[in-house]
Amino acid sequence: MNRIRNLSMMLAAVLTLASGTGHAQDAQDAVALGKKLTTNNCAVCHTFGKDEPSGQGPNLFGIFGRPLASEPGFKYSAGMKAAAPRKVWDGKLLDAWLTDTQTVAPGNAMTYFEGDEARRQKIIAYLRTLH
Ligand code: HEC
Repeated sequence: MNRIRNLSMMLAAVLTLASGTGHAQDAQDAVALGKKLTTNNCAVCHTFGKDEPSGQGPNLFGIFGRPLASEPGFKYSAGMKAAAPRKVWDGKLLDAWLTDTQTVAPGNAMTYFEGDEARRQKIIAYLRTLH
């Protein structure tokens, strides 16, 4: 009886461990896919490495927790600067931005949106790792 209990407890522990790894794996997959999406969809205009020069759009290294329109040396549009005061990039704001940038900063100059929720979340998961 005791042996059976021990065995089932062990099994439960193994299963918990396995599903835990599964979640970590899912998160890793999301970041890897997000990196691919970001390279394909954003890298024409943005750079992502530390201290890389901005392109047509600002460098996005460390974007999480960064105030809007604050990349040194980048010439932001008037719309972007007008929207910036007291706003900081987080997952929610990035989601709104990538859905429709005009809802976040009317008159901004980024002519890109990502209408697919799952793809947006992967892009944001990758951006979160850039620090
Ligand atoms: C066609 C060029 C282009 C593409 C493609 C593009 N962006 Fe942008 N992005 C810009 C420009 C230009 C700005 C600055 C807008 C302004 O000043 O009005 C900007 C601004 C941003 C900002 C605000 C940064 C800050 O310093 O406040 C974020 C975040 C951003 N883009 C993320 C992305 C992501 C993520 C993608 C891909 C999913 C993407 N962009 C695709 C051109 C682009």
